[in-house]
Amino acid sequence: MKLTTVALSLCAGLAITFTAAAADKKLPPPSTQKDVTFAKDIKPIFDKACADCHGDKKQKGKLRLDTLANALKESENGKSIIPGKSAESALVKAVARLNEDDAMPPEGKSKPLTAAEVGLIRAWIDQGAK
Ligand code: HEC
Repeated sequence: MKLTTVALSLCAGLAITFTAAAADKKLPPPSTQKDVTFAKDIKPIFDKACADCHGDKKQKGKLRLDTLANALKESENGKSIIPGKSAESALVKAVARLNEDDAMPPEGKSKPLTAAEVGLIRAWIDQGAK
């Protein structure tokens, strides 16, 4: 391999690493709270910010967030909550508004979740989504 090729592939590798790190940085850190549960901590957030579109009347994207069992079901694009893996869960990326196109709640529809709320949802998912 020529030296320039080596240098170029190193640069590409670094660029990918930095992009991945930047994307990760945008997710607020998981809360350090222990024993986060759907009933006690998460349902109040979903009831306030998501229920109009993901409740008993409407299930946008085939997603229903009113009970733990419903929240863990597959929605239109597969499972949006992956227990144990908050950073890979579509729901977390949506509420952290990583990408404005699939940000939830949708722009202008309801107040964005706070970093603390996103962190609590992350802790709940990382702890197994109980
Ligand atoms: C005003 C209506 C509205 C509100 C409020 C809302 N959503 Fe949504 N949501 C949608 C619509 C419409 C879709 C499907 C189309 C899309 O992805 O834009 C969707 C899709 C989703 C999806 C993707 C489901 C899939 O499998 O494709 C997730 C995850 C989600 N919402 C989470 C939430 C969460 C969490 C909240 C509350 C913090 C919330 N949404 C609040 C309208 C809403």
